[in-house]
Amino acid sequence: MPKDSLTVIDNRTGKQYELPIQDGTIHATDLRQIQVAPDDHGLLSYDPAFMNTAACRSAISFIDGDQGILRYRGYPIEQLAEKSTFLLLLHGELPSAGELDRWVYDVTHHTIIHENIKKFIDGFHHDAHPMGVFVSTVAALSTFYPEAKHIEDERSRRDQIFRLIAKTPTLAAFAHRHTVGMPYAYPDNDLSYTGNFLNMMFKATEVKYTPHPVLEKALDVLFILHADHEQNCSTSAMRGVGSAHADPYSAMAAAAAALYGPLHGGANEQVLRMLHEIGSKENIPAYIQRVKNGEVRLMGFGHRIYKNYDPRAKIIKQTADQVFDLTGKNPLIDIALELERIALQDEYFVSRKLYPNVDFYSGIIYEAMKFPIDMFPVLFAIGRTPGWLAQWQEMLLDKEQKIARPRQVYIGSPLRDYVTIEKR
Ligand code: ACO
Repeated sequence: MPKDSLTVIDNRTGKQYELPIQDGTIHATDLRQIQVAPDDHGLLSYDPAFMNTAACRSAISFIDGDQGILRYRGYPIEQLAEKSTFLLLLHGELPSAGELDRWVYDVTHHTIIHENIKKFIDGFHHDAHPMGVFVSTVAALSTFYPEAKHIEDERSRRDQIFRLIAKTPTLAAFAHRHTVGMPYAYPDNDLSYTGNFLNMMFKATEVKYTPHPVLEKALDVLFILHADHEQNCSTSAMRGVGSAHADPYSAMAAAAAALYGPLHGGANEQVLRMLHEIGSKENIPAYIQRVKNGEVRLMGFGHRIYKNYDPRAKIIKQTADQVFDLTGKNPLIDIALELERIALQDEYFVSRKLYPNVDFYSGIIYEAMKFPIDMFPVLFAIGRTPGWLAQWQEMLLDKEQKIARPRQVYIGSPLRDYVTIEKR
């Protein structure tokens, strides 16, 4: 008779243990009972980089990395990209028309930032990376909303969530305008979430900026594709810092800082730099050889979870075609397609199951839309904001969660006596 349990024999002692299996997992704390002596700490699981450890139960996104499946709240990403608008994740269910109107109204009417934040942005050097400015200004928001520390209060949490989702595009656009020396363009509440962001980014001297609907829709799709991705590095940072009951602005600044890394959300920027460096199709074989020699990584390739084509990359390729119909083709797409074609036949990539990820094609679209390369990670951060906040809220409401505190295996010196400086 099959049982939902695991029988473990400790060969050090000959003792046998039965560990319950729930949802395909064993509880790591159940290993503690496996001791050699009654006073030892019991067995730990060792899992650097969390390769095989579930740290929470979550109802937000589902990934099957072998099949290349991504769903938010059960809905396939392909359907959401086609039919939905951004701003869905925080509630588990699709909103009614009235609920959606209310939600959009609430977000739209929180887009202004305090004038002092502009002064704060002004203080950054003229060539400051906008992601550095973004991380810092998100953290600084906590000083403007001290009530944010009342994370136990549902109303306060809701207010901060609105504010963060609403204000991140404003902070992002202002970071950009500062670095290019243009006056800040204020939010326009007549426009959609993405339309308003394009307005704050690109408005010049015209009285009213009108976003092109194709670009507005493309950006909305890109934001949807980036909205959540289970327990990735930045989301883990959000949950980790949030688990200490830091306010959500501080926790989100930590998440954005993690995203900035080139192995994570900074990869889209690195992909573009790589494609520019390769320059033309003839140079691809030599570049692939450098990757295989271990000199460089093929940026935008590989994923911890996807061992099949990233479903987001497929949708992005379709979006690219729509954008290029309007903007003209970004010539880098030909290099990217050829790079992908060669890589997907090459034993090095095939045997390691390395496929293009979301970042491989997103930057090519952003560039065609005239976003500067260093804004790419910031665009990723705007898209990921609802996911971070949904995960933060879920973590706070989860009775099983406590302050995040991994264990370690100590490998340092055994006990020794301090040697005074004269005797060293
Ligand atoms: N180029 C070349 N080789 C690669 C790449 C790559 N992009 N990615 C992985 N490999 C190789 C590794 O060298 C390793 O080879 P080995 O077994 O011979 O040592 C093998 O594939 C496994 O790689 P790991 O680094 O162990 O895989 P991990 O799951 O730790 O890393 C990561 C995943 C960080 C995404 C990695 O694939 C990478 O660096 N990719 C490039 C950066 C990138 O595109 N990041 C964006 C990811 S998506 C996101 O965060 C939004």
